[in-house]
Amino acid sequence: MTEEHYTKHEYDVVIIGAGGAGLRAAIEAAREGARTAVITKSLLGKAHTVMAEGGCAASLGNADDRDSWKVHFHDTMKGSKYLADWRMAEIHAKEAPDRVRELEQWGAVFDRTPTHVINQRNFGGHTFPRLAHVGDSTGLEIIRTLQERGIHEGIDMFTEHTVRHLLKEGDRVTGCVAYGRVKGDFHAFSAKSVVLATGGITRCWTVCSGSWEYTGDGHALALWAGAELRDMEFVQFHPTGMVWPPSVRGILVTEGVRGEGGRLYNSEKQRFMFDYVPDMFRGDHADTIQEADQWVAEVVSGRKATVRRPPELLTRDVVAKAINAEVKAGRGSPHGGAFLDIAHRGKEAILHKLPSMYHQFKELAGVDISEEMMEVGPTAHYVMGGVRVDPQTQETTVPGLFACGEVASGLHGANRLGGNSLSDLIVFGKRAGEHAAKRAKNLAPPPIDKDQVQAAIADMVEPLNRGEGENPGRIYDEMRDMMQAKVGIIRTKAELEEAIDDLRAFKARAQACFPGTDRRYNSGWHQALDLINMADVSMAATLAALTREESRGGHTRDDFPTPDEGHWGQHLNIIWMEGGEIKIRQERLEPIRQDLVATLDEVKAMIKARAEEQGGAR
Ligand code: FUM
Repeated sequence: MTEEHYTKHEYDVVIIGAGGAGLRAAIEAAREGARTAVITKSLLGKAHTVMAEGGCAASLGNADDRDSWKVHFHDTMKGSKYLADWRMAEIHAKEAPDRVRELEQWGAVFDRTPTHVINQRNFGGHTFPRLAHVGDSTGLEIIRTLQERGIHEGIDMFTEHTVRHLLKEGDRVTGCVAYGRVKGDFHAFSAKSVVLATGGITRCWTVCSGSWEYTGDGHALALWAGAELRDMEFVQFHPTGMVWPPSVRGILVTEGVRGEGGRLYNSEKQRFMFDYVPDMFRGDHADTIQEADQWVAEVVSGRKATVRRPPELLTRDVVAKAINAEVKAGRGSPHGGAFLDIAHRGKEAILHKLPSMYHQFKELAGVDISEEMMEVGPTAHYVMGGVRVDPQTQETTVPGLFACGEVASGLHGANRLGGNSLSDLIVFGKRAGEHAAKRAKNLAPPPIDKDQVQAAIADMVEPLNRGEGENPGRIYDEMRDMMQAKVGIIRTKAELEEAIDDLRAFKARAQACFPGTDRRYNSGWHQALDLINMADVSMAATLAALTREESRGGHTRDDFPTPDEGHWGQHLNIIWMEGGEIKIRQERLEPIRQDLVATLDEVKAMIKARAEEQGGAR
C-alpha cells in the first residue's frame, strides 16, 4: 500500500457539523476551556437549521402566561406518541427558555410583542403559542447569532472538509480522518472527545427539504464505529413543501403559515382537515369553520384564544397523511398537493410575518400568496431516529463519541413537534459541548494511529482507482427514487422487503461506480463516497420500518394501520452494525418516572377542562 500524505491536528474536542447543534456545542466546549475544532463538509451558514423557519419552541409564557415547562413536556410526549425518552423531554422543556434568552443576550433579534418581550406563535401540537420567532427566518437568525458568538470563543473551523472515519483505540473514539473537498487532501485529527452534529438523512428521499449535505454522514460514522441507533423508522414528512414547479419540489413552506391562520383546501374547496382529527386529539380542536376562524381572529389580534384551534394545527404526521389521502382520493391540486391559503391575512401582515414565504413563492413559482393559494405537499424534512445518547451528557454507546441535534435520537420519539428542533439544538448542543469538554479534561491527547489513518485514506481514494464503472450520480438518483416509492409516507411489507433487496443492489453498484480520477473538487467522488452512507442509513430506516408492525407518528403501515399499544407502544427498535451488516433488536421502554406521570395527568386534565370551556364558548 502506498502511503499517502496527511496533515495532523490535535484538539481536545472535535465537532463534526456546523449547524445549530454543532455551533452551540463548540461554543460550550470552548467556554469550558477545551481546544475546539469544528469540521463541516459545507460552508458556514449553510445548515439545515435554516429550514426550521417558523420558530424555536420554549415555554417563555410571553404570548400566553398559562404556558409552563410542564405543558411543553406533555405536548412533546404526546406529539411523540409517548415514545420519546422522557428524561430528554423533561430536560428540554425545562432548559429551552434559558437557552432562548441566552440567544437573545447574544444578539438574536426575535420578533416582539406589543409589550416588547419575545413574541411567540402557534404551531401544531403545542397547546399554547410557544414558538419564539424571527418572521419566517428563525433558524437563519439562530445560525447567525451562534456563528458570531463562536468567533469570539476562538474555535478553529475546517470548512469544506468531510469526515469519513472515526479513529478508535480499543472501545473509545480518539479522533477522526477527513478529506478536503477542494484540494482532495487528507487530515487526521487527534481528539479526546468527538461530537457528531451532522444533521439528518432526508436527502435519501427524492422530495425533501434538505440540500445536498443531508446524506446521513453522522448516522453512518456512528454505525461504523460501533454505536447504536434508535427510532430509525420514524421519518418526518413535513406536510407543506412546494410541489410546483418541479425544480423546487420539496422546498419548505413553513408551518408558520398555518400558525398564522393558513387554511388547507382540497380541489373541491373543502377544509378537509376537519375530517382527519384522530381520536387522541378529538375534542381539543375546532369542529366548525366558524370556530376555527374565530380562533384565527383572536390570535392575530393578540388576544388569548377563547375557542379551540383549527385542525390545520394538528401534528405534522396527521396533516401530512391527510394531504396524502386527499391526493390519493383524486381531490388533490393540479400538481399533486393541497391548497394552502393565507391571502385572507392581507399583504401587510404577510409581508410582516411571512416575508420569506412571500418572496419564495413570488420568485420560484410566480405566485403572489397575498392573492393566490399555494400548492403544497409532504416533503421529507427530518428523521426522529438517530444515534442513541445518554440523556444527560449526550454521550453515545461508544466512549468519547457524543451526538446532538438531528443526528441524535430520543427527544422526538415517533414524531417531532415543529419548533422542537431549534430548541433541541440549543439545549442538547450545549450539553454535548459541556460534557465532551469535561471528559477531555481528564485525558492525555490520544496518539494518531498511522495504520488506521492510511486504511481510511485507502478507502477514500479507492473509487478513483477503479478505472471504469457507472456514474455515481445515476445511482444517487435511482436510490432516492426507490426510497421515495417504497419507504415513503405509507409503507407495506412487500414494498419494504423489495426496498431491502434494492438497497443491497444499490450498495454493490455504489462500491463499483467510477467518479473519474481527479481529487480536486470532484463532486462525483464526493457523491460516490456519500452513496455508501446513504445506502447504510437507508437500510437502517427500512429494516426498522419493516420490523415495526403498526402505525405510529412518522411511520405508517398500510397493512398495520393502527397503533399497537400492547407491544409496539412499549418497545423501541435498536440498530447496530456487525460484520458490515445492519442488525436490529427490540428493547422495552423504561417506564416514565412517577412524578412525571403525575405531571402528564395534571396537564391532560387542564387541557380537557380548557377544551370543554372553549367548546362551550362557541
Ligand atoms: O415549518 C417550519 O418552519 C419548520 C420548523 C421545524 O421543523 O421545526
